[in-house]
Amino acid sequence: MTITYKDAEGIAGMRLAGRLTAEVLDYLTPFIKPGITTNEIDKLAHDYIVDVQKAIPAPLNYTGGGNKPYPKSICTSINHQVCHGIPNDKPLKKGDIVNVDVTVIKDGWHGDSSRMFLVGEVSIAARRLCAVTYDAMWHGIKMVKPGIHLGDIGHAIQKFAESQGFSVVREFCGHGIGKGFHEEPQVLHYGRPGTLEQIKEGMTFTIEPMINIGGKDIKEGPEKDGWSIVTKDRSLSAQWEHTVLVTPTGYEVLTLSDASPPIPAFVPAQV
Ligand code: MF3
Ligand code: CO
Ligand code: CO
Repeated sequence: MTITYKDAEGIAGMRLAGRLTAEVLDYLTPFIKPGITTNEIDKLAHDYIVDVQKAIPAPLNYTGGGNKPYPKSICTSINHQVCHGIPNDKPLKKGDIVNVDVTVIKDGWHGDSSRMFLVGEVSIAARRLCAVTYDAMWHGIKMVKPGIHLGDIGHAIQKFAESQGFSVVREFCGHGIGKGFHEEPQVLHYGRPGTLEQIKEGMTFTIEPMINIGGKDIKEGPEKDGWSIVTKDRSLSAQWEHTVLVTPTGYEVLTLSDASPPIPAFVPAQV
């Protein structure tokens, strides 16, 4: 597969899909409290996407990467789960951190975004991990403009995350996105400046760093469901994700909404 460049019609489609994706996360936010199960969150997301947004939850039955069909509409990854946690009937408990990853298809276009949620009061370390991972994502986003290299994005994320004493997961990356859920290019969250492909106007891709408090290594989750991934040392892991468009002068984040967390002060305003 090759990189797809979006024209005006594609950009309009991606803007709508991106906004709907963010609005699902806004909608879910007040429900994410101690006692709710991830299956209940999944059902809320599914029904909102299908009944209110008249859209499609992309993960449901997704088989990308040669996996068996994904059985739910969102991914929910708790504590030491790194990504692709499958919702289940276990209630969230006070002190958990949970990533909710939503991908919506509207008129054939995909929006993909995830946020961290703190369940009740959480430890200082967990809160710091979530905050640093959010900033790490934005350190990557702020690099985006035509002519920079994909390695510049990865380097910015890795440099910041490691400066805070955390590690970057290597096995999963951001991705091109459009009519396809996972398109080229791969957007690594580590790397060296000036390496890899140059990015160009009209590209749309995700930036979605997974950052661990302990070591960078991961393994298959104990559920052996073919999806869930955990840290090898069982340390906490966090992730945030946005979908971005490369504009003539920089970027536009497509998965923002009214209740998105504020953009960090270190990110220069886009003109
Ligand atoms: N939303 C994830 C991503 O950011 C992919 C999930 S694939 C699924 O790329 F099948 F597990 F949903
Ligand atoms: Co993604
Ligand atoms: Co995602």
